[in-house]
Amino acid sequence: MPHDSHDAPPAGPQKAWGGVFREATDPRMEAFSESVSFDRRLADDDIDGSIAHARMLAASGLVTADEADRIVGGLEEIRREIAEGRFTFTASKEDIHLHVETALTARLGDIGRKLHTARSRNDQVATDLRLHCRRAIDRIDAAVLALQRAFLGLAEREHGLVIPGYTHLRRAQPVLASHQLLAWVEKFERDRQRLADCRKRVNVLPLGSGAMAGTSLPIRRELVQEALGFDSFAANSVDAASDRDFVCELAFVLSLVAVHLSQWAEEWILWSGEEFGFLLLPEAFCTGSSIMPQKINPDALELTRGKSARVIGNLQALLVLVKGLPTAYNRDLQEDKEPIFDSIDTIEATLGVAAPLVAGTRFDAARIAAGIERGHLDATSLMEAFIADGLPQRTAHETVGRLVRLAMARGVALADLDDREFQGEFAGWKASYREALGSSRAVERMRSAGSTAPNRVAEQLSAWKRRLS
Ligand code: ARG
Repeated sequence: MPHDSHDAPPAGPQKAWGGVFREATDPRMEAFSESVSFDRRLADDDIDGSIAHARMLAASGLVTADEADRIVGGLEEIRREIAEGRFTFTASKEDIHLHVETALTARLGDIGRKLHTARSRNDQVATDLRLHCRRAIDRIDAAVLALQRAFLGLAEREHGLVIPGYTHLRRAQPVLASHQLLAWVEKFERDRQRLADCRKRVNVLPLGSGAMAGTSLPIRRELVQEALGFDSFAANSVDAASDRDFVCELAFVLSLVAVHLSQWAEEWILWSGEEFGFLLLPEAFCTGSSIMPQKINPDALELTRGKSARVIGNLQALLVLVKGLPTAYNRDLQEDKEPIFDSIDTIEATLGVAAPLVAGTRFDAARIAAGIERGHLDATSLMEAFIADGLPQRTAHETVGRLVRLAMARGVALADLDDREFQGEFAGWKASYREALGSSRAVERMRSAGSTAPNRVAEQLSAWKRRLS
């Protein structure tokens, strides 16, 4: 192997790849191509990967055990310098990988120059990003769990409360507040399942793929795999160095988390407003107006809804980024980092506010009760009482429709009609049908599995309590 340290260095700052070059890099090119301004957050992952790689090189006889010890010691020092803000970053050294390696060589000379044996930045960056995504998945999973627990806690406190349920944003049927809150627990559970599934495909080691073809050196990839906690190592070097499916997949899973958060935020913006008046949000998560002194605005929820846009946009950016790339590494792939970092940061920030906001929210039970008989929420309940007595569904539907029209004309609830009025529309009317009327009774008469029946919801509450504790 040629040893280029005796060659004259090119003009300008020396590059790790500079041997063949006769011209120094233009500073405009350095500024254009650097990634260290954003990939420095991979520092820990890069150092973890390099330590595992150095130990493997020693086990494979490519460096001595003593050299590996010195490399690992140097890398740990660099880790500390970066963590303590004592490390200097510069665009001329491109990315975090070259920064760490250059700093190591500055300490150890030729020993440092051995670290990149049987490795390319292509398989290195893919490894670092996988480690980074894996950590993010684990943190986000814990944050989604915390949000689920907050919803469950609120559902337990409000179990008996009957609220209007809506379809088309029009009053539909009464439901238990606890039932509706558990709907969010279900959605976020699916998000956690998707995170866990995505993690399986993240957790495959690319290192050892080299630039694209592997290496002629006697490496032992299984040692790096085990040291870094990967489930397996990638089977195809051409695929592994360029595969960013895992980034796109995580961006999608996070987009769906963002969509769920946004839907929830929208619902609670409505519910906490004057017109609905169902919820009292914690003031610590609201903000005021600089001109209207009375305003207490649901900005945390609005930002939750608004920030979902960038998470969804990042997914789009990533898919467009990779769609035209030929196999193996292309520098375009450097552009994968900012979108996925932004999605991770945005979701973590949002979840960090969502859980305490939910935990601090109260229902305005008196105001909900005062309006709960508006909107004929019990019409379906009455229809089903007729059906249970043998009336064909379509006939029962039509009959109750006419009764609702009668109540609407008089501006009263179904329960306010008298027996004579009921009989006028339905000859088979019996006073016992009144048991189907009223929002609370409509809820209590529910029985199907998965319904808002109080005993069904109680079962769900205890099942979730077991699952989430
Ligand atoms: N900063 C680069 C990236 O993020 C690292 C890989 C560079 N590889 C290369 N052959 N230039 O993708």
